[in-house]
Amino acid sequence: MTVISNFALSRREFLRAGAGLVAATAVLKPPPGFAADAVEYKITPGSGQVALGGKKGPLTDVWAYDGRIPGPEIRLRQGRSAHIVVENRLEEDTTVHWHGIRLPNAMDGVPGLTQPPIKPGESFVYEFTPPDAGTFWYHPHADSLQQLGRGLAGALIVEEAEPVHVDRDLLWVLTDWRLNSEGQIASGFGNRMEAAMSGRVGNVVTLNGKVPGDQSMRAGERVRLRLVNTSLARIMALKFEGHSPFIVAIDGQPCDPHEPDGGRLLLGPAMRIDLIIDMQGAPGSRHVVVDDYYDGLSYELTALAYTTQTPLRKSPLDASLRLPGNPLPEPDIRNAERLELALQGGMMSHTAADDMKPGMQAMPGMTAGRALWSINGTSMTGDGHAGMPPLVTLAQGRSHIVSMRNDTAWWHPMHLHGFSFRVLKRNGVAVPHNQWADTVLLAPRDVVEVAFVADNPGDWMLHCHVTDHQMAGLMTVLRVGNGRNKT
Ligand code: C2O
Ligand code: CU
Ligand code: CU
Repeated sequence: MTVISNFALSRREFLRAGAGLVAATAVLKPPPGFAADAVEYKITPGSGQVALGGKKGPLTDVWAYDGRIPGPEIRLRQGRSAHIVVENRLEEDTTVHWHGIRLPNAMDGVPGLTQPPIKPGESFVYEFTPPDAGTFWYHPHADSLQQLGRGLAGALIVEEAEPVHVDRDLLWVLTDWRLNSEGQIASGFGNRMEAAMSGRVGNVVTLNGKVPGDQSMRAGERVRLRLVNTSLARIMALKFEGHSPFIVAIDGQPCDPHEPDGGRLLLGPAMRIDLIIDMQGAPGSRHVVVDDYYDGLSYELTALAYTTQTPLRKSPLDASLRLPGNPLPEPDIRNAERLELALQGGMMSHTAADDMKPGMQAMPGMTAGRALWSINGTSMTGDGHAGMPPLVTLAQGRSHIVSMRNDTAWWHPMHLHGFSFRVLKRNGVAVPHNQWADTVLLAPRDVVEVAFVADNPGDWMLHCHVTDHQMAGLMTVLRVGNGRNKT
């Protein structure tokens, strides 16, 4: 059970709230048991009820894919086409965005911009061929605060052509929730004050849809651990006590295997990290995994609990930690065009509520009220709209360096649709280990340079993945080519 004390609900209250409620009934459908090489899926967003705190806890009303939290794990094969039917059983429009997948613009799931929204009762078929193996995820791009915040998210794993040599391939989908004292999702989505600050950070974190207990490990095994942060706003900094995890991929893209700085894994909303860990603890031992991102609010996320079995092998597996590379086009840095983006807005400090800047004007035609954030002085708000004018048009086929400067007092995981970019520099210093990403976390005042080849035509969103920030203006559109290749 992991309850964080920055919201009015303690672990005991959460458990107590459940005591009088429904005796555990099976509300989850049995796992659909897709074959590993399945390329056809159907997922159905709708309402459901789940026991986030385990069988004895209260049932929480959620919005979920196939009634499951997280949504079904979709496993595709690199270079093999996928056909995914989405049948909307919500009472409002939705879409699905395949976060991090390099796909045709028409399959990107941005309502108004790349497709019409999927109306209640209607279906939409997504078809694409993932070029890259790795850890990705999917989520709605409509009414994002509520749809993501009420539970619509799932992992999308693209399998390597040749299996990677590990003993186990584990997935931890980490999700932050704000629950009230009845164990229900708290109302108040889109609170202006929060939107100008850190966004809607919750009070309960689940691992694969459950408040986590211990994770069973066997001494001597080599584990690939895929971490996915599907939270609306919570940034995590994970430490694996007594272990030395190696980062082998970031946002699905392989990097040079390396240990994180200070043993701390920073995982902002929408970010993924693949780890390889050689389980060197003693049989029967237990090691906590702590998230200490927020000052004074560190908590134990889970623990690695070793079985008493004899070690699987005496010394760590003698196989490379390096994942096979993906076919990413290498940007030509010397001849790249440059684009400078300034991230602006929000409150200027963590405490002064009254120095909020007067709201910046949202672009004409955009919905929502006053914007709180902007990029280069303009604010696109909401989820995506018909006729969103692009900020710039990037020459198709050219290499581009995008320099993002955080002029705010807040952290922003900045995400670009449709591309993986090379992370070149942070505050003037070259970023080591050949890192690619689709979402890069900027601390206050950070300047980060990324580069990519604009080989994929279309209108592509670039936004902060703290959902409140996106909704309140920290979003723009980059057009590649004529922007019209949407088939
Ligand atoms: Cu996962 Cu527009 O984002
Ligand atoms: Cu995306
Ligand atoms: Cu942000």
